[in-house]
Amino acid sequence: MKFFIDTANLDHIKEAKDLGILDGVTTNPSLMAKEGITGKENIYRHYKKICDLVDGDVSAEVISTDFKGILREGKELAEIAENIVVKVPMIKDGIKAICEFTSLEIPTNCTLVFSVGQAILAAKAGATYISPFIGRIDDSNWEGMQLIRDIFEVYSMQGYDSEILAASIRSSMHIVDAAKAGADVVTCPLDAILGLLKHPLTDIGLAKFLEDHKKAEKS
Ligand code: G3P
Repeated sequence: MKFFIDTANLDHIKEAKDLGILDGVTTNPSLMAKEGITGKENIYRHYKKICDLVDGDVSAEVISTDFKGILREGKELAEIAENIVVKVPMIKDGIKAICEFTSLEIPTNCTLVFSVGQAILAAKAGATYISPFIGRIDDSNWEGMQLIRDIFEVYSMQGYDSEILAASIRSSMHIVDAAKAGADVVTCPLDAILGLLKHPLTDIGLAKFLEDHKKAEKS
């Protein structure tokens, strides 16, 4: 399973990259706004900085919701760097645009996926990635991870090529569950990635090893 970081924060991206396990980045308009990046020029400049930082795919989301607008914006975003993936919402014009991007060989990430039916449509359109939002489904008292299992089952059965990118990840356990459910990619905040490192028995075990080593050195 590939690890993407879900942020527009350059320090967080650098930290995950330094860990050596980072395969890519996803962003969205809310994450850009959180970093205080506004205005088309600044936003595109920020995408360029992210693309220069990482070797893997960087999802950049369109703001337009009509076919022509999504196409125009997607082409502009794709010009920023070779590793840009155009993130398109799961709406009627979005699906039409993904079909067009597929024929132009521009990689896409179909975002805001909340059902297997939507995942089937996005795969038919040729989306490179589809992003089911796990945490937001959990927030509405449904089981988000079941959606990943169901999409995995249908994609395996039908031989669809789109990669299942588990998004809206809120915890380290979500990452583990997404891996078990068959996700190809997980995109998560830095905290959730770093949380995977933690286990009290590791800390206790390491303290004991170091203590025993110290004692042996003294004797
Ligand atoms: O990038 C899309 C997704 O990961 C958003 O997550 O936490 O805002 O539901 P969240």
